[in-house]
Amino acid sequence: MKVLVVGNGGREHALAWKLLQSKQIEQVVCVPGNGGTASMERCQNLPLAVDDFEAIAQFAQQQGISLVVVGPEVPLARGITDFLTSRGLKVFGPTKAGAQIEASKAWAKALMQEAGIPTARSAVFTEVAAAKSYVKAQGVPIVVKADGLAAGKGVIVAETLEQAQAAIDAMFGGEFGSAGKFVVIEECLTGQEVSILALTDGLTIRPLLSAQDHKRIGEGDTGENTGGMGAYAPAPIATPELMAKIQARVLERAIATLRAKGIDYRGVLYAGLMINHSGDFKVLEFNCRFGDPETQVVLPLLETPLEDLILACVEQRLAQMPPITWKQGAAVTVVAASGGYPGVYEKGKVITGIEQAEALGTIVFHAGTKAFSGGSLGTRQQLVTDGGRVLNITGVGENFEQALAQAYNGIQCIHFENMYYRRDIGHRVR
Ligand code: AMP
Ligand code: GLY
Repeated sequence: MKVLVVGNGGREHALAWKLLQSKQIEQVVCVPGNGGTASMERCQNLPLAVDDFEAIAQFAQQQGISLVVVGPEVPLARGITDFLTSRGLKVFGPTKAGAQIEASKAWAKALMQEAGIPTARSAVFTEVAAAKSYVKAQGVPIVVKADGLAAGKGVIVAETLEQAQAAIDAMFGGEFGSAGKFVVIEECLTGQEVSILALTDGLTIRPLLSAQDHKRIGEGDTGENTGGMGAYAPAPIATPELMAKIQARVLERAIATLRAKGIDYRGVLYAGLMINHSGDFKVLEFNCRFGDPETQVVLPLLETPLEDLILACVEQRLAQMPPITWKQGAAVTVVAASGGYPGVYEKGKVITGIEQAEALGTIVFHAGTKAFSGGSLGTRQQLVTDGGRVLNITGVGENFEQALAQAYNGIQCIHFENMYYRRDIGHRVR
């Protein structure tokens, strides 16, 4: 099989890495990929934009690609699956209609209400005055969300009325472009967040191992929200009893309601949940794709061949698959970021120490990296930073402590100018 993976993050490196563990996979092509995917055997990068559907379709048809796996939400929301499927390709990832579950928070809230899925109380607004008077009446803390895709930055958890009003002004003022045309205002929930990534063929839905990520830039989960600074799996808070409830009240209901709307959803349904102190939960958000960096800790523990599961989803025969099996133990990933991220940061810094980290048994997934020829080494290639989140240093162990130690031992080997990482990943479990 030849597989094409769309995207260029740590999640896509992890997907390609996992697929290549199977002898069935002859080659993986990453569009556009990164420095890590470029360096794996049987893997190559193809420098096309993720929304250049025509060029991707032509390449896939000419090269005999058997399966396309889509990583990020943006091409899904723009209809990559509809387009490539119409060209006769097999695609893992929901259609444009299904991707609304992430691309419109108002749409997702309406679906949750219709399906009876537990979620925060909320209201949708189209203009400033009504939104502000609602916030005044509800009081703070309160959560203000831009409706559309905003690369994880469209959610403000406002502690004061002034913050909430400023967020409303910014969203309607166009700070998030058309994503802010509608604004969802939501009750503020407290507790622990957990990410449940589930595979579905539109009829059957099966959860993968639970995971928790650390979204804030600062230690102690403080400071600005980021794409994620580290993660671990499984999440001890997601007990088998809780997982059974999530299966019945969230995953099954979501798929049944999507189907009732005529949406044939095949791909990952990712539920972000808040679990409160008494173990009750509510859905914060749905995503239409694998989580990043959750995927980097879930896939190293997966025993069932990934392509078998993905093909079963695409070919709508997930119900016939034996139960998904997992390695005993745990995985932890720590994100090495460029200093300044999630604000302004510099690119092009030389990265060293990856081989030393790998020699300790650590898995180093690349996110924002690229191979660069030139500079002091002339034509010899070196690896340089090319994004905010640069590397995901991942440890796998028989238990959480071992996995954590391996990830942090690995990161000690790695260096680039202004590298930043959190030293407290997994603090809830330590
Ligand atoms: P979302 O994109 O909806 O997941 O929001 C991003 C992050 O904002 C979540 O991971 C939470 O940390 C936070 N968040 C979203 N909704 C709420 C809520 N209703 N109450 C508290 N925090 C929230
Ligand atoms: N780790 C959060 C996300 O993938 O949205």
